[in-house]
Amino acid sequence: MTEKQLKELLGSLSLTEKAFQLTQAPAPYYMKDAQIAGTEVNTEISERELALMGSNLYVYGPKESRDIQKRCMDMHPHHIPMLFMMDVIHGYRTVFPTPLAMGATFDPERAEEMMRTAAAESSAAGVDVAFSPMLDLVRDARWGRVMESTGEDPYLNSVMGRAMVRGFQGNDKNEIPTGRVSSCIKHFAAYGAPEGGREYQNVELSEHTLREYYLPAYRAAIEEGADMVMSSFQTINGIPSAANRWLLRDILRDEWGFEGVVITDWAAIEELVNHGVAADLKEASLLAFKAGVDIDMCSMAYYRYLPELVEEGKISEEELDVSVMRVLKLKNKLGLFENPYKDADETRVNVVTLCPEHRAAARKAVSESLVLLKNEGNLLPLKKNHKIALIGPYVESRELHSAWAPNGKAEDAVSVREAAGELSEYSFTYASGCPMQTWDALLVHGKEHSIEDLRKSDFSEHKPEMPDTLQVQAMQKAMEADRVVLFIGEHRTMSGEAASRADISLPENQLDLLRAVAKVNRNIVTVVFCGRPLDLREVCRLSRTVVMAWLPGTEGGHGIMDVLTGKENFSGKLPMSIPVSVGQAPISYNQLATGRPKDPVRDVALYRSAYIDTPNRPLFPFGYGRSYSSFAISPVSLSTSEVTGVYDPCDRETVLLTASAEVENTSAVPGVVTVQLYIRDNTASLARPVRELRGFNRVELQPGEKRTASFDVTPSMLSFVGAEGKRVLEPGRFTIWIGEDSETENKTEFVLNGR
Ligand code: GLC
Repeated sequence: MTEKQLKELLGSLSLTEKAFQLTQAPAPYYMKDAQIAGTEVNTEISERELALMGSNLYVYGPKESRDIQKRCMDMHPHHIPMLFMMDVIHGYRTVFPTPLAMGATFDPERAEEMMRTAAAESSAAGVDVAFSPMLDLVRDARWGRVMESTGEDPYLNSVMGRAMVRGFQGNDKNEIPTGRVSSCIKHFAAYGAPEGGREYQNVELSEHTLREYYLPAYRAAIEEGADMVMSSFQTINGIPSAANRWLLRDILRDEWGFEGVVITDWAAIEELVNHGVAADLKEASLLAFKAGVDIDMCSMAYYRYLPELVEEGKISEEELDVSVMRVLKLKNKLGLFENPYKDADETRVNVVTLCPEHRAAARKAVSESLVLLKNEGNLLPLKKNHKIALIGPYVESRELHSAWAPNGKAEDAVSVREAAGELSEYSFTYASGCPMQTWDALLVHGKEHSIEDLRKSDFSEHKPEMPDTLQVQAMQKAMEADRVVLFIGEHRTMSGEAASRADISLPENQLDLLRAVAKVNRNIVTVVFCGRPLDLREVCRLSRTVVMAWLPGTEGGHGIMDVLTGKENFSGKLPMSIPVSVGQAPISYNQLATGRPKDPVRDVALYRSAYIDTPNRPLFPFGYGRSYSSFAISPVSLSTSEVTGVYDPCDRETVLLTASAEVENTSAVPGVVTVQLYIRDNTASLARPVRELRGFNRVELQPGEKRTASFDVTPSMLSFVGAEGKRVLEPGRFTIWIGEDSETENKTEFVLNGR
C-alpha cells in the first residue's frame, strides 16, 4: 500500500476500529481448545470483536495462523490483516544455546545466523513479529532471565543486539522479505536490574547509570532498524515503564527518533493498577497511552476504553491516529495488505524446520558457546585409549533448551549420550547418578508458609541416608574409569521468567553425586548446565576440569562432544562474571574504584572497599575462557601516545589512534582467541569504571602463527554520560588494555589534550 492508501484506510476507520488495532489478544482466544501458559480464554469477547483486533500473540503453526487470519479478515469491515507475534528467543524449532551462551561466543555473525535461522522457521510457521532480542543488561545471577541476555557489558550487548536484529529483519529498512520477521526488542528499559535480583521488582537507577550502562544496547538495536519496542513490567525509580513518558516519548521518540511501534509486556497496562499508579483499567489505559504505548498486550483494555477517552476529550483522535498509523505501516512493511499470510506455509515449514543446515548452525553455536574455566592435568580433550565414565542426569536428558523456547521439543534434541554413542572409537560407560530435579525441588523454600517452618525448632536428627542405587552405580562406573565426565547443573525450569533464586548453588542432589564420585576418582571433568552463573566453588574444588555448557539447545549433545573430544576447540568467553558466591551479586567487571580500592595484589581488606569474608574478585571474570591452545599477547603499542584536539563525544568515525598487539598461538593446537580491548578514563568529572570493554576481535591462529590485533580508538569510545545526562569527552590520561579477559594487565597509557 502507498502512504496515501494507508491514510485513506485510516480515515475510513471508526474510533472503535482504531482502538481494536491497538489491542493484542492471546491466540488461545481464537483457538478455543488451545492454551498458552496461564491464559484463561476470555469468553466475554465476541468473535466479531476478536476479528477486529490488530494483532494476536502466539502462533501454533501455518495452518492455524492462516485459518485465523482468513476468518478474521473476512469478518473485519475493512478486511485489515492481523499481525502474529510471539517469543522467538534463541531459535524456533531448531533451538540454539541461550542468548547468554551466545554472548559467550563473542561472535556477532553466529548470533545473526541464529536469528536468521529462527526467522526462517518462525515466519514459515506464521510469525510476523518476534519478541526478541531481549537486550536487558544483567549483573545479578539471582535473576532468572539472565539466561535471555547476552550479559553484563553494554558494548557486547550492543554488538550482539545489532547482529540479532539483522538476523531477524535482514538489511532492508523498507520491507521484511520472505524468510524474515520484524524484531521487537525488549524489555525497555532496565528490566535486568531488579532490586535483590527478584523478578518484577523495582529498579532503582540514577539517570547516569541508566544511560551509561542499561540503555546503549536498546539504542543500538533501534539504530539497526528494529521495528518494535516492548516496554518492561517493572518500575524504574517507582514509575512503571508502561506509564513512563520520559522513557517512551522523551528518550525513545524525541532523543532517539524511534518511529516504530511500542507494545507493553503481557498485561502490563492492567498491572498499573497493581503498581498503585492507576485506580482502574480505564485510568491505566489513559496513563499508558499518554506515556507512549501504542499496543496493549493482552490487558484487553485499549479497545474498551480508548474510544471513551477520546469522546471525553482526554485523548485526541489525532493522537490515536498516530499510533494506529504506526501499526498499519508495520503491517505494510511486512507486505500483509498484499499477502496477509506472508510466509505461513505448510510446505515451507516442513522444508526449513530442523533442516540439516539449521542443525549444523546450532551445533557450531554450541561449540563456540562452551567456556573452559579450567583444565588441570589436561583432562580434556578426552583420549580414545581411556575408559571414560559419563555420569549425571544430563547424560541422557534431551531437555537441553531453556524455559524460553516455547517451540523447542526435547524429542528433537541430541543428548550427550546419543552424541557419545556415535563416537565408536571412544570407550564410554554411562550412569545417571541421580534424578534430574525441576524447579519445584527448589520451591519448597520459596513458599511464604515456610517462613513459619524456618522459625520453628526441629530436633529431628538428620539420619545419614544410605547412598541410593543410582549413586552407587555411578560410583562403580567412576571407580572403573580413567576419567569421569560429570554432566550436572540447573534444570531448564530453574531459570527464565519468574525463576529468581536467592541461592545460586547447583541442586543439592547433584552436588552429592559429585562428592560421591570424587571419593573414588579425582580425574573429574564437570560440565555445568545452567541458565545463569552458579556458585562453582565446590565444583572447582572437586573437579580438575570445569566447562560451562549453559543450556545448549537442540544440538547440545553433538556440540558438547565435538569440543570434549577435541574435534572443535574451546573459544567461549564469559559474558557475565561468575561470582564466588551469591553474596557478591550484583557483580560486574566495570565497577568503580571507590575511594578505598582493595589492593588486588596485597588483597588487604581492612578499611578498604571489600568484604572481610569473601574476595572482591569473581571466581571467574567477564571475558574469561580457556582453550586447548595457548596464546601470547605482546605489549600494547599505540600509533601515538598523545592526541590533541577537541572532538565530538558521539563521533564514531574519527580515528584518534590505533592500539595494537601481536597475538601468537604458542601451542600445537589451532585455536581462536577473542582479543579484548579495554579503556579507562583515569581522571574525569565523574568516577569512571576501572575499565570498560571497547572492542573485541576473534583471532584464529594456527600453531605458531602470529597476527596483529588492531583497534581504532574513536572519540565515542572515550566519552561517557556526564553529570548533566549528556555525553562528554574530557581531556586527560587514559589507560588502554589488550588481553584475553577483563583482568588482563597488558596495558599502556595515552593522553588526550583538549586544546
Ligand atoms: C512475558 C515476557 C515477555 C514476552 C511476553 C509475551 O511475560 O516478559 O518477554 O515477550 O510476556 O509472551
